[in-house]
Amino acid sequence: MCGVVGYIGDKEATSILIDGLEKLEYRGYDSAGLAVFHDGGIQIRKYKGRLSILAENIAEENLSSKLGIGHTRWATHGEPSDRNAHPHTNVAGNIAVIHNGIIENYMKIKEWLIEEKKIQFKSETDSEVIAHLIDHFYEGDLLQAVYKAIDKMEGAYAIGVICKDEPDKIVAVRKDSPLIVGIGEGENFLASDIPALLKYTRDMYLIENDEVVLLTKDKISIFNALGQEVKRDVFEVTWDAQSAEKEGYQHFMIKEIHEQPKGIHDTLMRRLDKDNNIILDGIKLTKQDLEKINKVYIVACGTAYHAGLVGRFAIEKFAKVPVEVDVASEFRYRDPFVDENTLFIAVSQSGETLDTLAALREAKRKGARIMSIVNVVGSSVARESHDVFYTWAGPEIAVASTKAYTTQMIAMYLLALYMGRTKNTIDKAYYDQTIAELKTMPDKVQQILNHVGEIQQLADAQFNNESVFFMGRGVDVNVAHEGSLKLKEISYINSFAIAAGELKHGTIALIEDGTLVVAVATQHHLFEKMLSNIQEVRARGAYVVAVAKESNKEVEKTSDIVMYIPDTMDELAPVLSIIPLQLLSYYIAVARGCDVDKPKNLAKSVTVE
Ligand code: G6P
Repeated sequence: MCGVVGYIGDKEATSILIDGLEKLEYRGYDSAGLAVFHDGGIQIRKYKGRLSILAENIAEENLSSKLGIGHTRWATHGEPSDRNAHPHTNVAGNIAVIHNGIIENYMKIKEWLIEEKKIQFKSETDSEVIAHLIDHFYEGDLLQAVYKAIDKMEGAYAIGVICKDEPDKIVAVRKDSPLIVGIGEGENFLASDIPALLKYTRDMYLIENDEVVLLTKDKISIFNALGQEVKRDVFEVTWDAQSAEKEGYQHFMIKEIHEQPKGIHDTLMRRLDKDNNIILDGIKLTKQDLEKINKVYIVACGTAYHAGLVGRFAIEKFAKVPVEVDVASEFRYRDPFVDENTLFIAVSQSGETLDTLAALREAKRKGARIMSIVNVVGSSVARESHDVFYTWAGPEIAVASTKAYTTQMIAMYLLALYMGRTKNTIDKAYYDQTIAELKTMPDKVQQILNHVGEIQQLADAQFNNESVFFMGRGVDVNVAHEGSLKLKEISYINSFAIAAGELKHGTIALIEDGTLVVAVATQHHLFEKMLSNIQEVRARGAYVVAVAKESNKEVEKTSDIVMYIPDTMDELAPVLSIIPLQLLSYYIAVARGCDVDKPKNLAKSVTVE
């Protein structure tokens, strides 16, 4: 969601800005723009639509510059349009601002600026007020003016500011919206996410909340909210730039689907010693801690929420503690029963989702023990948690989450098994069997990925559906929810997931001749019930695609097509059964000609409420 890039040095700023923004395209956006110093003034170019439109528009002109800021916007206040795109300026056009996030009190500031200062606004955005506020406070020192402006601003923001009268600096601020600085030699960089800068440097500073950064070409100064300079360790990015490239795959999503065996292997093996004991390293969950915990909340958004649903199943099964799962945007406002005996688990790929972060803070305020399952090292959710269980999916670029999800499930299983063993709620034999089976997951996922042809054929035959139903029972219904989300996110098909037993209480009214129903049927003890549900929809004309274990041929009798997964313990089936559903969604979206990696209206990391 929105991308921020800044450059100061001796190279051509425009090409570095465009290149950096390109690397952030995956976050989702609807317009793009930049501001550079050129010819003694600030030049702004901004356009609705793809970044390529901005690039094409400036290709013909000479915008030679050594300093600039660039932005991809995901509309929140005001429609996607040229004038609402960033950067925004003050009236004189000598201060330019890019902004990620939302200024919650912008209306109040805007009214004041209109009444008192007679400012005529050029856009409908909340962001424009920042430029006018900085202008209002500017007395020859940009850094001080920015400090005074942010003092008046409420909400979440990462901003980058340049000023015509101080053509040797960029000032940036972070509050609840990610911001990093790239360290170069005789040049420095600013960005909202690491991939934007990896081509230029691996050494970064992760900027923390309420910090203000002053960048010149030779110096980076970081200040806290009080204006005191702070020291920051250099964060060295260890993953290679290639991880953020497509490497011959048509889309990031399919590349990331194929990276799942590795992500699962890495997440698992970093937590197991040679005797198959789970090593939690820095995580300090002792037997006493666990005995104290009488309730677990798992809170997340989107796909991470679906991983949380599987987590509930695993923790209740192995650790015998009641678990509630909630979407973060609901949890934070429902005054939940949280106290010091609560374990709160936040699940987030990016670690920057604002709703998840806010829910975490709410639980922390009420005294809960905060654990997070996060993919991005050093992200906000990770930093604000007492304990962090990192997943090892590597950078996930496609908006639709795949490898982050499977690794989140692995983390959940490990945590649940650890809790179960520590509390003695599962015996050693069951534990050993489950760990041994978990270790086969990378190979079994690979086996499914070796047979994508059949799924592709199915997608080619079914891509024209306008609605699809997913159903399952037990832990399978959680997979059905994630399968349904994948499909709607990238193919814009109206899909819906439901507990199969609930179908008859309403949804079955929508089943008619030819309706596609995807039935996840991996659970042995629920299999007969699932067969009945499949028959119910088939009797009303549904075309049923089942997901089942390969030794279970019986399902063929009642389904039109079966997508098989290798045999496994019922408890772990979600790790495998989601793979054909990811592939089906992907190939359907490709067949429909959709922009798979950058679906409309969606953002990779949602840093606004
Ligand atoms: C957005 C993305 C989803 C993601 C969700 C949570 O909605 O489009 O793919 O699952 O945010 O993101 P997080 O980074 O917290 O896992």
